[in-house]
Amino acid sequence: MITTNDIKQAAAFIQKKVTFTPEIGLILGSGLGVLAEEIENPVRISYSKIPGFPVSTVEGHAGQFVFGTLQGKKVAAMQGRFHFYEGYSMDKVTFPVRVMKEIGIERLIVTNAAGGVNTEFEAGDLMIITDHINNMGTNPLIGPNDNELGVRFPDMSEAYSKRLRQLAKEAAGEINISVQEGVYVGNTGPVYETPAEIRMIRTLGGDAVGMSTVPEVIAARHAGIEVLGISCISNMAAGILDQPLTHDEVIETTEKVKANFLSFVKTIVNNMN
Ligand code: HPA
Repeated sequence: MITTNDIKQAAAFIQKKVTFTPEIGLILGSGLGVLAEEIENPVRISYSKIPGFPVSTVEGHAGQFVFGTLQGKKVAAMQGRFHFYEGYSMDKVTFPVRVMKEIGIERLIVTNAAGGVNTEFEAGDLMIITDHINNMGTNPLIGPNDNELGVRFPDMSEAYSKRLRQLAKEAAGEINISVQEGVYVGNTGPVYETPAEIRMIRTLGGDAVGMSTVPEVIAARHAGIEVLGISCISNMAAGILDQPLTHDEVIETTEKVKANFLSFVKTIVNNMN
């Protein structure tokens, strides 16, 4: 079990190297880590150096924090994240969010690559997450509750901040890109879904499906962090198009939408207060 002491130790380690207080946290998903390269005066800290941090193993995930300035704002960006399917406990998956809270982060932008379930979507679309469905069969808050971290029964009625969603829509308008909005369904993976599972997810109200984000957002809301979620629709989900799904396709599409993704998130960060 992760204790407040573990969180404080990791935070203290970071604060020895990073002299400012970051205001905005960013979790950069598969193929989306390039955003961290835009950060000015970067201080990079490999996860493997931080006490208590697991090591990231998936292709397209660099496995480091990048602290610095983006659009004049102090940010902490996670280039790579920890997935439940890698075998990490939910405690480990959400540990970085706890540490971000400890170093002062109050707002978090969570990004991911996701499969498009809504048939109106196309690969390459960006989607503002309006809400999520936790389909992972577990919850990162199961176990004794540490009241110092958050309440026993956190409210999830506005998991994805209305205010930040509005700000993101305005940012999209400002740079003239069209964005989708929808519900993200978090599955454990590592398999992609079957076509029947995708039909089920659509019936249940899902617009996009992925293997991350949900545990991090639950931990963030528990910690009182305001959250914005952005999915890059990297492929249409199983059974929609007559073709198999591959991780290469996911990375290829995120590569193609990189420019839009970068200017979208940068405009959001710029306009955040
Ligand atoms: N399903 C689950 N996770 C994903 C997908 C998908 O189709 N695409 C990218 N991550």
